[in-house]
Amino acid sequence: MAKTSDRAALNEWYAIETSADLTAKPIRTRLLGQDIELFRRENGEAVVREVEAGWPVGPALPVRERYGCVWTTLGHPNKEIFEIAEADEADRRFVPCGWVKMRASGLRVVENFLDMAHFPFVHADILGAEPHTEVPGYLSEIRRDVDEVWATNCTFFQPRIAATESEGAFVQLTYRVPTPFVVMLYRVCPTAPERLDAIALFIHPIEEDLCRAQPVMYLVDTASTQTSLLNFEQVIFLQDRIIVENQRPLLLPLEPRQEIPTRADSSSVAYRRWLKEKGVRFGTTMGAA
Ligand SMILES: [Fe+2]
Repeated sequence: MAKTSDRAALNEWYAIETSADLTAKPIRTRLLGQDIELFRRENGEAVVREVEAGWPVGPALPVRERYGCVWTTLGHPNKEIFEIAEADEADRRFVPCGWVKMRASGLRVVENFLDMAHFPFVHADILGAEPHTEVPGYLSEIRRDVDEVWATNCTFFQPRIAATESEGAFVQLTYRVPTPFVVMLYRVCPTAPERLDAIALFIHPIEEDLCRAQPVMYLVDTASTQTSLLNFEQVIFLQDRIIVENQRPLLLPLEPRQEIPTRADSSSVAYRRWLKEKGVRFGTTMGAA
């Protein structure tokens, strides 16, 4: 497919590679249907260019390196990459979990990340367990001042909420969608209850129904090994991959749901409304041509 004409999608920043993995050897990939090439110059600078008919063309695209990733845009973002305040706290464990490729719309991946109702079924005995299947009421809102979607006051019974924990408990969760293709989770930290673990999911939309996603965590956790943290997140994420790849349609419908939304879906309803207001079409059933 060719580069999308969806201005709303083009004018966002996207994480497209892990900074540590970028070398002088060019990497070819696609972003929003556009072929691109990226590499690192000898002076350390990351370079991203569009590719046409097999050759790099045009001026270098804007590049940022933040949160362990290389970010670029094919358009003209009206603001810098969103802030993750926890990334600046020196005592945090930074855990980039690696990219997972999925045959699904990146927007579907965001919506799945927002959904607590699947915990007991998809992540049985880790993030949820029967008979604790009810999603207690929470608040979803589009925050106009920052142009983000937030879901607050979320609670859910989890048998094993983090790599450090083996006992079940009600966790307090906050969800944040800072851009259409990024979703975050803040979780009261089990070992430091006055602080929040921050987990971001960066999505690299390749085509409308194909993406890569990387969870990046900023944790307050001095006990776990990096391997156990990675394993914990990867088990969960591979369970999610099966779910999103089997959703039909693969693209996200923005029209009102066929089924009657329940209270548990309110974050998904707010997210879809926000995407529609922004005019995002790439990865939706509205079509991005
Ligand atoms: Fe999940």
